[in-house]
Amino acid sequence: MGTQDKRFNSIWSLSQLENLRLNLQQRYDYSKNIEDRRKLGQFSTPFALANDIITFGLKYIDHNNNIRFFDPAFGTGAFYSALLSNIQLSDIKFSTAIEIDPLLFKIAQDICAFSGIKIINADFTELYHDNLYNFIICNPPYVRHHLINSLQKKKIKDKTKELTGVTLSGLAGLYCHFLLQSISWMDKDAIGGWLIPSEFMDVNYGHPIKSFLLSKVDLFRIHRFKPKNIQFDDALVSSAVIWFKKRTKQSQAVTFSFGGTLMSPQEIKEISYSSLLNEPKWTRFPCAPQRTVHKYMPKLRDYFNVKRGIATGGNNFFILNHAQILVCHLNFFVRFFPVQDI
Ligand SMILES: C[S@@+](CC[C@H](N)C(=O)[O-])C[C@H]1O[C@@H](n2cnc3c(N)ncnc32)[C@H](O)[C@@H]1O
Repeated sequence: MGTQDKRFNSIWSLSQLENLRLNLQQRYDYSKNIEDRRKLGQFSTPFALANDIITFGLKYIDHNNNIRFFDPAFGTGAFYSALLSNIQLSDIKFSTAIEIDPLLFKIAQDICAFSGIKIINADFTELYHDNLYNFIICNPPYVRHHLINSLQKKKIKDKTKELTGVTLSGLAGLYCHFLLQSISWMDKDAIGGWLIPSEFMDVNYGHPIKSFLLSKVDLFRIHRFKPKNIQFDDALVSSAVIWFKKRTKQSQAVTFSFGGTLMSPQEIKEISYSSLLNEPKWTRFPCAPQRTVHKYMPKLRDYFNVKRGIATGGNNFFILNHAQILVCHLNFFVRFFPVQDI
């Protein structure tokens, strides 16, 4: 047992550490209003979920004094706490975390500094890597693009482009930039596990991220939680966990799972890379099969301009229930096939 382990065991038991962290996290959450928390995406990961993610990720790395852990959006350290409850402290070679909020940084320092972790109070998107890590686990801030001012947005976009060559749309939320920028902090063969909104899998701004995941790293697993079983009581998002290795593509397929937990999902299926390249909406997997693309079949966009998020105020006109649809069908038949024609 290393010196740090001895100190660790003499000062804290693991449950004491987690209890203290949780207590301070809750006090922090209550002290700040929800709008201010939203600006920095301050919604912490429940410990059970953090533990599920850490347990899964640990299957893919060598424990023996070799863990180089990094979390660029640390908060009070839910993932780090889960990590410490699964390994010996001596399994960690070094670890680093970043947190922008001075108060959360101070709390995290007070709770975790004894373990040797380096915590930096800074904006992750303004930093360059200080080391290379083999285990990056993160629940990045889900800050929507309209909450980022245009100057800051340009800076973040330029940095993502500089580090990865990828130009993200101005509609991409902060979490997309966190995910891509963190790749430069990963060592060869490092594992990345990201708890992020599943939205990027279906929308246009997600395309460059999906093609990056399919071509520049080895994407091997995507787990999506049931939208009704929202993981965060206070941030209404449906989340997914994305897993990849920093190496050129070796897998021919990605394991998609849905529902339950990461370690014990309700549905699970291998989806080939070619299916993923052809399918613009990944959230259909694993529950629905790959769609057959009918090349010459007209699409809705051939007739209409389709946009999301427009409130017409005319839902009674645009949204029909089954009975109303049936009446429409009947009217159609009566009009075009009058009784004397039958
Ligand atoms: C979704 S929370 C996750 C916190 C913690 N890792 C957890 O899982 O409970 C995101 C955290 O990132 C921090 N954050 C927001 N913007 C940041 C930035 N630009 N750089 C570093 N941290 C940031 C927030 O203050 C918040 O603590």
